[in-house]
Amino acid sequence: MAALREHQPVKFDENTGLWLVSRYEDVRAVLLDPENFLPDNAIDAIGRFSVQTLRVLARVKFDLPQTLANNGSDSHAGYRRIMTRLLNAQAVAASVPMVEKVVAEALDDVGQRLAADGVCDLATTIARDVPFRVMLRLLGLESAIDVDIDTLARWSDASLELFWGRPRGEREVALAREAAAFYAWLTGLVSKPAPEAATLLGALAAHRLPDGEPLGVTQKAAVLYFMIIAGQMTTTQMLSTMYRRALREPGRWERFAAEPATVEPWAEEVLRRDPPITTWRRVTGRPVTLSGVDLPAGAPLLLMLSSTGSDPAVFDHPEQICPHRANARKHLSFGIGRHRCSGAELARMEADVVLRMTAARFPDLRLCAESSPRMLALLSFRAPLQVLVRRG
Ligand code: HEM
Repeated sequence: MAALREHQPVKFDENTGLWLVSRYEDVRAVLLDPENFLPDNAIDAIGRFSVQTLRVLARVKFDLPQTLANNGSDSHAGYRRIMTRLLNAQAVAASVPMVEKVVAEALDDVGQRLAADGVCDLATTIARDVPFRVMLRLLGLESAIDVDIDTLARWSDASLELFWGRPRGEREVALAREAAAFYAWLTGLVSKPAPEAATLLGALAAHRLPDGEPLGVTQKAAVLYFMIIAGQMTTTQMLSTMYRRALREPGRWERFAAEPATVEPWAEEVLRRDPPITTWRRVTGRPVTLSGVDLPAGAPLLLMLSSTGSDPAVFDHPEQICPHRANARKHLSFGIGRHRCSGAELARMEADVVLRMTAARFPDLRLCAESSPRMLALLSFRAPLQVLVRRG
């Protein structure tokens, strides 16, 4: 990434067919200019699906019309207001006791596993379950859901790999079946009578598009599909990365246990250096010049968020985790501008509560010896798939 930033900050990549944009200032400029750089391709599949896969998806009328992250039209502001109402700073602050309760229960489970087996995988237990439970409660979805978290997680994992991986053959079709089952279940959910307006389903039912029309089943299902994945998977990845880093850094875990206030600034630095969403996409709306490179209209861009957080033009000694650096919050890991992540404050709060409470309950936690940990490595997502720990 350093070489790209220095020598080819805007480079066409034959392998993906995308223009790689690696400098902080370029990525920031792109995200702040929605007229020239459209979000339309943000959640498109990166590869071309086989006919068999397309058939599987067509059977459930799978469609992700423009709603949130992929919406550059005038309907975006209305959709976004729904999210802001449910996830604003006050709502997040008010939900801290609820999150603490969810984390305490998850830690009981971790404790039982440690006692019974001697080891526990934090990635597939607490890091996965807490974001799910918190998001479902905050969006008022908990009572509407009639499937368990294992099923939701399997559907979400499959969707992520289908769209941001490059599965082939049977694997692609198998993932499409899971994504289709997820989508069919969501269309069923949004077709039922809506609960009160203070929930996501209620707000979607009451919502009107700029032309005064209510949302159709497809639009409502698309919002839920995106939200369940955006609200949970990214936070799970963030927590797994943070657990692993904190347990590997000499003295860090003990410090968290003794001085919980050190968690928050440290977590912000990890978000900068190791963002769960490593890249995000845009497409040029007209011919533009970026870092001296002329791009035609319709050029798909891969904004390298993980490179921006390590750009020495903005962050001194970017490879070092410096919890009190002056511009710690300047990173672009949550995006910036019109589409900036609506869940950023929630994710930050969850990181703080989860790490603080885990270190307080298990100050003697140790990472099990690992040769090379299995990593999730998709075009836009990177995180450890396993964080195996023991006590003592
Ligand atoms: C560490 C966890 C997370 C990271 C790193 C992250 C990152 C991002 C990024 C990079 C974007 C795209 C920004 C852009 O297009 O300019 C985004 C959009 C979004 N995120 Fe997150 N996110 C996280 C957690 C969450 C959570 C917990 C929620 C909700 C519960 C959420 C909801 C959204 C929504 C609704 C959007 C679309 C906003 C719009 O288009 O107006 N995210 N997020």
